[in-house]
Amino acid sequence: MCGIVGYVGHRPAKDLLLEALQRLEYRGYDSAGLALLESDALYVEKRAGKVRDLAERLRDKSFRATVGLGHTRWATHGPPTDINAHPHSDEHRQIAVIHNGIIENYLPFKEELQRRGHQFASQTDSEVIAHLIEERYDGSNLFEAVRTVVQRLQGAYAIAVMARDNPNEIVVARQGSPLVVGLGQNETFAASDIPTLLSFTRQMLVLHDGEIAVLRRNSAEIYDFSGRKIERAPQQVDWDVLTAQKQGYKHFMLKEIHEQPQAVAHTLQGRYDLERGQILLPELEAFRSKIQNAKFIYLTAMGTAYYAALAAKYLWRELLDLPLTVEMASEFRYSKPYLNQETLVIAISQSGETADTLGAVRMARERGATVFSIVNVVGATLTRESDATLYTHAGPEIGVASTKAFLAQLAALDLLGLYIAQVRGKLSPSQTQEALSSLAQAPVLIEKLLQQEQQIVQLAQIFYQKEHFLFLGRDLLYPIALEGALKLKEISYIHAEGYAAGELKHGPIALIDPDMPTIVLVTKNSVYEKVLSNIQEVRARRGVVIAVTDDVQRELEHLADFILEVPAAARWVTPMLFAVPLQLFAYHVADLRGTDIDQPRNLAKSVTVE
Ligand code: F6R
Repeated sequence: MCGIVGYVGHRPAKDLLLEALQRLEYRGYDSAGLALLESDALYVEKRAGKVRDLAERLRDKSFRATVGLGHTRWATHGPPTDINAHPHSDEHRQIAVIHNGIIENYLPFKEELQRRGHQFASQTDSEVIAHLIEERYDGSNLFEAVRTVVQRLQGAYAIAVMARDNPNEIVVARQGSPLVVGLGQNETFAASDIPTLLSFTRQMLVLHDGEIAVLRRNSAEIYDFSGRKIERAPQQVDWDVLTAQKQGYKHFMLKEIHEQPQAVAHTLQGRYDLERGQILLPELEAFRSKIQNAKFIYLTAMGTAYYAALAAKYLWRELLDLPLTVEMASEFRYSKPYLNQETLVIAISQSGETADTLGAVRMARERGATVFSIVNVVGATLTRESDATLYTHAGPEIGVASTKAFLAQLAALDLLGLYIAQVRGKLSPSQTQEALSSLAQAPVLIEKLLQQEQQIVQLAQIFYQKEHFLFLGRDLLYPIALEGALKLKEISYIHAEGYAAGELKHGPIALIDPDMPTIVLVTKNSVYEKVLSNIQEVRARRGVVIAVTDDVQRELEHLADFILEVPAAARWVTPMLFAVPLQLFAYHVADLRGTDIDQPRNLAKSVTVE
């Protein structure tokens, strides 16, 4: 929710900040702005619309500024207007602030400041920060002014601040929203994420909650909110810059769909020994006794990551002799969860910054549970809030609709389920070998599926003008039906419902007519016949059926209007394989409808508010 970037260095700040903002746009894109320190004056340009609109406005303007701040917004307090866009300033244009997060106690501050004569321009919570700092700033010590203000703020924030008469410093602070500092040659950066800075530097310092840093051209000093200095060595990030760019694909989403064989392969790589039939997760070794003594398991997440958890439920229950449930993280806290020292909580999140997931994890740990997280973004908040983290190695995911992170989560959940079973003595090496041999095939099978893209383009051409879709699946394909519907609605704005096929008769069947196509996921398993009956029910009501299947039999050929074939595989891999054609279908439908695929309306890549 909102992307922030700050720069103090030697290069022209305007172009550098606009470039960074383009990379941060996945975090929010309803308005954008820059603040530049230009000949002792604070120049602020901000407007509703995308970063490209801001760039257009600034195209012919040249600046000498080598210090500045940039922001791209996802509105929470106040609609997306020019005035509500960041940076925010006090009425004397002394201080400029950019903010990602929500200041929960902004209202009493605003009233208090107004009583003291401050004039507010915007409806945002963020503007109070600029006024509060301006009141405390003595013209020389910006750090102290910011430090005393952040101590009083409640809520979640990553902020960056600069002052008109201080051309050598930016002060940044973090509580609950992500913030990294990049160290270059005679230049220092701050941003909401690592990939944004990768083309400038690879030396990164990840700030933690409750930390504040003073950035100068040649240094970054970190302190806690009480003013105590913190020593932290920078880490060298070796992600490939190219993976954070489009590489000739029309959209990041399409590129990321095509990166799935690698995303799964990298997530599995080095984590098992096929010969000995063993899962190797050294990250979790210290928790063997917790795993052995566990009496209850929760899987918790939001959105696509939640569907990955739902798919894992079916596989884990076949393996483990433990009560296991999946809870949407936003509901976790209200559902009186069974939490104690014998509970394992597994939290799944691409970004590792999802507020609801963090909330669930914090509650679980407070109540004594052991928390393992599955996270894609290195150093994300969730990794620090967990007892241990299993990283998915999908690489940076830029498209707002999650694709490669989902398949990597499914692979990581497979490994984790097998590992828990191994530690609890539920699997013989030969059973593990069998599971692993099938898992090892996944990247090749996904690659094979991607070669059928043209067939999916043709289907998209037939159906892209429909306004409603139904997705049906049973057993471990039910969560994939949910994910298929989510992908379609997110990027094409088509109304799509995912249902357990057995639920069809209990209501949704009333919707079936020739204008509402049904995508049915059919796998060769114990529920095959039942799913065929569901298809019959749809056809009997003149519904159009697209079957996605790994078992084309004559009866299905006869029943379905269209068939998309996926390779047959073991249950460990089946959900991944069925997800791919649904992602491609959603992508091509959206492309034909001309929507903004990488940045769909109203969405943001990481949802850092509850
Ligand atoms: C859908 C999508 C979202 C996220 C959800 C959780 O395509 O991307 O539903 O899956 O917001 O995000 P993370 O995984 O970052 O916690």
